[in-house]
Amino acid sequence: MKPIFADDAAIEHAADLLRQGRLVAFPTETVYGLGADASNPDAVRRIFLAKGRPADHPLIVHIAGVDSLNDWALTVPDTARQLAARFWPGPLALILNKRPEVPDVVTGGQDTVGLRMPDHPVALRLLQAFGGGIAAPSANRFCRISPTQAAHVEEELGDAVDCILDGGACRVGVESTIVDLSGNRPRLLRPGHISRVEIEAVLQTELIVMAPQAEQTVRAPGMMTVHYAPATLAMRCSTNALPAIIQELTAQHKKIGLLAFNKGMINCVVADNEPDKIIRMPKRADDYAKVLYAALRELDSLQLDIILVEQPPETEQWRAINDRLCKATSLQCR
Ligand code: TXA
Ligand code: MG
Repeated sequence: MKPIFADDAAIEHAADLLRQGRLVAFPTETVYGLGADASNPDAVRRIFLAKGRPADHPLIVHIAGVDSLNDWALTVPDTARQLAARFWPGPLALILNKRPEVPDVVTGGQDTVGLRMPDHPVALRLLQAFGGGIAAPSANRFCRISPTQAAHVEEELGDAVDCILDGGACRVGVESTIVDLSGNRPRLLRPGHISRVEIEAVLQTELIVMAPQAEQTVRAPGMMTVHYAPATLAMRCSTNALPAIIQELTAQHKKIGLLAFNKGMINCVVADNEPDKIIRMPKRADDYAKVLYAALRELDSLQLDIILVEQPPETEQWRAINDRLCKATSLQCR
């Protein structure tokens, strides 16, 4: 399926397809989503087939605004209203107790539902034209890197999707922050562009932060360590460890790809052992997040033996990126 430029006619066409129970990939500010009518269980089932995703993994329902919260949530706590007022439209998904009529296939059989109003003109126009909620996971095959450009969706899903709306490269580049408001205390289930500190400032309370292990087993079965992984073996390395690792791998005639902050430095240290492909990464966390998945995807396409990723700072600002890098790399070297 070739992506189509998301003008008014394309968006009307896409909304029609959604009404017919078909699948539409569309841009959001975080990553591209693979959308279906969230109130149509057969349509939502097609998402799981297209992605090859296990059926017990819940999906986020995209809505056109705060007014739609009551269509999906049984009750809307003040905390949800406060966060939505501050951050919507935006890269924040809220987990709330669901209304009984929300299809089980959307929530993976859980009694909660994930909701978010995306901050992308194409996504918002599609939601307006369609008029209902759109269930949409990231538009990649299960366990693969999320797409941040329309061409990535085409690569991932081919003809398993009925329409790909092209709205350019995603501005944020990593998936939304997820906050669970269904229990007694708010929990951060997935870090994202909107930070824990920003959320705590609005709620005036501390978030419970799920340890990655707990996150996987308790609330969000979709978040396994293999999520977001390139097919190529990938390893995080501290800046100090990089030259020796590159030297050793080169001696073993391995083809190496490298994501690094400072190409010049790396070139100079390993002048005789240059990696096969180096991508220089931005120094600011927001800029890094925006290009991370495209960079991993590019290296993954080069039939390398290994991808090395220079470890970013382990600070709050880099939390979402480090979370995704942890999932994309199976090895670490300090
Ligand atoms: O930025 C995003 O959120 C993107 C764009 C397309 O909006 N979507 C996205 O969807 O990342 P997906 O399916 O790849 O990730 C959604 C995550 C899953 O890990 C899932 O486990 C969690 O949200 N989730 C959804 N509903 C949930 C629920 N009721 N309880 C706990 N976790 C839930
Ligand atoms: Mg995903």
